[in-house]
Amino acid sequence: MSSVKPYDMCWLDYRTLKIKDFDLFRTICIVDNDKSLEVPIKELKHFIKYSFKINPRVIKGSFDFSKYILIGKIDQMKDIIKEAKMWERKLNNEGFILKRIKENDKDILIITAKNERALVYAVFKLIENLRIGEKLDDLNHVDNPASYFRIINHWDNLDGTVERGYAGNSIFFKDNKIIINERTRDYARLLSSIGINGVVINNVNVKKKEVELITHKYLKILSRLANIFWDYGIKIYLSINFASPIYLGGLSTADPLDKRVSIWWKTKAEEIYDYIPYFGGFLVKADSEFNPGPHMYGRTHADGANMLAEALEPYGGYVIWRTFVYNCMQDWRDYKTDRARAAYDNFKPLDGNFYENVVLQIKYGPMDFQVREPVSPLFGGMEKTNQILELQITQEYTGQQIHLCYLGTLWKEILEFDTYAKGEGSKVKEILKGKIFETKYNGFAGVSNVGDSSNWTGHDLAQANLYTFGVLAWNPDRDIAKVVDDWIKLTFGDDSKVRENISYMLLNSHRIYEKYTTPFGLGWMVNPGYHYGPNPEGYEYSRWGTYHRANYEAIGIDRTSKGTGYTLQYHSPWREIYDDINKCPEDLLLFFHRVPYKFILKSGKTLIQQIYDLHFEGVEEVEVLKEKWYELKERIDDKIFERVSKRLEMQLEHAKEWRDVINTYFFRKTGIPDDKGRKIYP
Ligand code: GCU
Repeated sequence: MSSVKPYDMCWLDYRTLKIKDFDLFRTICIVDNDKSLEVPIKELKHFIKYSFKINPRVIKGSFDFSKYILIGKIDQMKDIIKEAKMWERKLNNEGFILKRIKENDKDILIITAKNERALVYAVFKLIENLRIGEKLDDLNHVDNPASYFRIINHWDNLDGTVERGYAGNSIFFKDNKIIINERTRDYARLLSSIGINGVVINNVNVKKKEVELITHKYLKILSRLANIFWDYGIKIYLSINFASPIYLGGLSTADPLDKRVSIWWKTKAEEIYDYIPYFGGFLVKADSEFNPGPHMYGRTHADGANMLAEALEPYGGYVIWRTFVYNCMQDWRDYKTDRARAAYDNFKPLDGNFYENVVLQIKYGPMDFQVREPVSPLFGGMEKTNQILELQITQEYTGQQIHLCYLGTLWKEILEFDTYAKGEGSKVKEILKGKIFETKYNGFAGVSNVGDSSNWTGHDLAQANLYTFGVLAWNPDRDIAKVVDDWIKLTFGDDSKVRENISYMLLNSHRIYEKYTTPFGLGWMVNPGYHYGPNPEGYEYSRWGTYHRANYEAIGIDRTSKGTGYTLQYHSPWREIYDDINKCPEDLLLFFHRVPYKFILKSGKTLIQQIYDLHFEGVEEVEVLKEKWYELKERIDDKIFERVSKRLEMQLEHAKEWRDVINTYFFRKTGIPDDKGRKIYP
């Protein structure tokens, strides 16, 4: 291990590299004295030092060497490299070129991009390519990110706690102060190395204390934090409270159509940009789960978002407005109101009404990051509005970083989902690339799984979720098995048994988790409030009846056109497929349909038997996960081996609890025994 820090460097933990001919790395040439190249060069030198045990020299303006690295902005290259002009046309603002040219006794590795921030992405990508074993000879990349926003959302509070955080306390805040230390820069490095370009540092639920983040009290120190991240191509964003003009400005209203309110926000924006010229913008959770919003004044979300957008527009800032809006106090006995419909019902009528610098941030499913949900119909529905796909990297409903639950496989399914908005091929990933609708500012947001624990994510293997989020946000076409393999190589090295076993563990873990918890799109069934552990009738906001409405003969919710009408929010053919109990994908069966326990599935089994079987299977498969890990005992760093082993032990125990509680629940409800005669209740 190269690191002597009190925390790991995850996939950036450089070790000696076995590249025979590394003379190239002895000389780094730059065109002229450009201070802005400091960070990419520093990163390059750091890598070379750890990987080849040499200190490269940096030469300005002279290229009289046979082997060297040439790094610089494409503008600076035009006089030296004849292809540079042509290359420039292939690059967007964040893209880069890595290319090895061997001609006339010269051997040059070129790293170029339009600006210094993209050069940092380029250097990290070069490092990654070399570390996963790409041959230097083959280096020839023109790489542009597929979408505009690639943002991490922290749900961190000023007191240092993290909402839904499972990896310790906040790395940004402690005791109402902002933390800036060595770890801050290392976090920026980690994020930049996976292509992230934005970070929202505070929780979407902006409470009394956090409202003050946009005041003088914090802006000065925030500007220091912002500079560190901006060095690495990452803009800082803040979550704001819609009622700030009341809390901070002493106004009697936050009505977005009130002149005093919009002037207050304009002045506020000016002040923020004075401190932080590269401020990204605001993230807003409005009219949801007790947060204030424009509905309080009889205004629409478009009214609210546009008013803020106008304030940020002169500085190039964005308003990222969340669509996670529903009535959490809804009576679940009322079969007509369906939480799944809420986001679409609220926002679809507003399509086309948002300003250009407003982006809607849409959770992947219509509910709330369950282990499986259908993909939100909003993606295919908002044709005239910028969109961000919101994913939850933190494992709130997927085992809270105690259980191994790699999310890349699920995310890939979401990205490949075809909305049919403009006919076949209108996949979510294409919408986010801006290729289906005529919107420019689309992208990804991931709710962070990072805290101040020494390995950043609590579960060491949960680092793979953070890594994968960045990689897919940069390029959603990536093959997920390859992403996993790359991550393993970068984190654990090139041992083939390690690669084989951890790949197996990661790629199967989400399905396994789904089996022993809530298959068929059921969701929840967790303890209310903290959302961990089985509780078949647990749903915090419902005092009346259950979320899944199980009784003695059937379970699930009829969300078809004859039921709540949710299926009608989809384009054809999905609305017909989801509407038809015989066509609906079985892993979402109980999300869309109310189904008798004796319903026969495609396998020929009854629904109830399959529920039993999946729960037994799930636990058996956790045992396999454990075995796979234990086979690696001699091949993995002791500290990491122990940490992960402990969590796998817990996972197995808790998976058994899930199996027993859920199976018992259904046995008691239905009176139908397991046809394999296994013990159902403990
Ligand atoms: C979930 C989560 C909350 C969070 C909310 C949101 O409901 O449990 O902690 O605030 O999502 O995304 O806003």
